[in-house]
Amino acid sequence: MAHIWPIGGGKGGSGKSFLTSALGRLMAGSGKRTLLIDLDLGAANLHTLVDIPYPAKSLSDFVKKKFPLLENVVLETPVPNLFLISGANDTLDIANLPYEQKIKTLRAIAKLGYECILLDLGAGSSFNTMDFFLISQNGIFIATPEPTSIENIHRLIRSIYFRRIRQCFTVMEFKELEGEVVNVFGDGSFNKPECMMQMVKKNHPEIGLKLAGDFTGYRFKLILNQLRKQDDAALGGQICRLIEKHLGLKVEFAGNIAFDDHVHDAICQRVSFLDRYPYTRTACDVRELSNHIISSAGDQLQINYS
Ligand SMILES: Nc1ncnc2c1ncn2[C@@H]1O[C@H](COP(=O)(O)OP(=O)(O)OP(=O)(O)O)[C@@H](O)[C@H]1O
Ligand SMILES: [Mg+2]
Repeated sequence: MAHIWPIGGGKGGSGKSFLTSALGRLMAGSGKRTLLIDLDLGAANLHTLVDIPYPAKSLSDFVKKKFPLLENVVLETPVPNLFLISGANDTLDIANLPYEQKIKTLRAIAKLGYECILLDLGAGSSFNTMDFFLISQNGIFIATPEPTSIENIHRLIRSIYFRRIRQCFTVMEFKELEGEVVNVFGDGSFNKPECMMQMVKKNHPEIGLKLAGDFTGYRFKLILNQLRKQDDAALGGQICRLIEKHLGLKVEFAGNIAFDDHVHDAICQRVSFLDRYPYTRTACDVRELSNHIISSAGDQLQINYS
């Protein structure tokens, strides 16, 4: 079965597309059939990072039923074993995919016959982004070591857990739950996943059990990108501990990626950073992370919508 790694971040420019393309190249280079999917709908640019200046077809051709199967819109890249579903040409009209289309796309992604699938998600916490993130246990969060980026990642992680809870209920049921959480735990408590989960377990024990299982099954990871010399290398670990303390949610700190101006140079020259600058600290960081990510991948897909 395919491993799927959704890559998300609270803020634009944190390095999601750079990391998606770099991990994809490494996975493909190790002989695995690897597919990148650009789900940054409305601002897609992953094709440029894998040297396809003008993608001939894209995800919207599947969404708009020009092609019946998601496989039909897969593009070959110049890199052996590396394939792309581009989000280019996806004008804003599919940036907010209708619910049915999203489910169809999620199911089609899960069925694709690739060993490794990496999803480059849009910044922030739109419903699309969160639903695509929740397709797999292996979601990766990427942030930079700046307070604004960290604040946004904290918010995104909380929203994603709430989104998972929300997926199990109707609008009315969820509203009722929120009301009860506030009654029992006080104002502002509906913002705390732990309080919400306690209420779910009490009022809907079966769903509570299922969700608790999902949450323990998640192998979500945090990567800090663009670390400069003066930054604290231990920051990522501290953020994960804070997330666990405040939200009761486990996210593993997977590692840092050093800042390097050559990333910009490689992108401008449209070449692979890892091939052009293989001995830099940044390239070593990405290779180490790739090995760790592959070796600790979970298997279970999560497409459970009520
Ligand atoms: N480790 C790094 N060192 C130096 N520059 C980097 C590094 N990672 C990414 N960058 C730079 O940051 C910029 C943003 O990276 P990227 O496009 O991957 O971010 P993104 O999260 O996909 O942004 P968006 O949300 O806008 O799609 C790139 O132009 C790249 O030059
Ligand atoms: Mg991007």
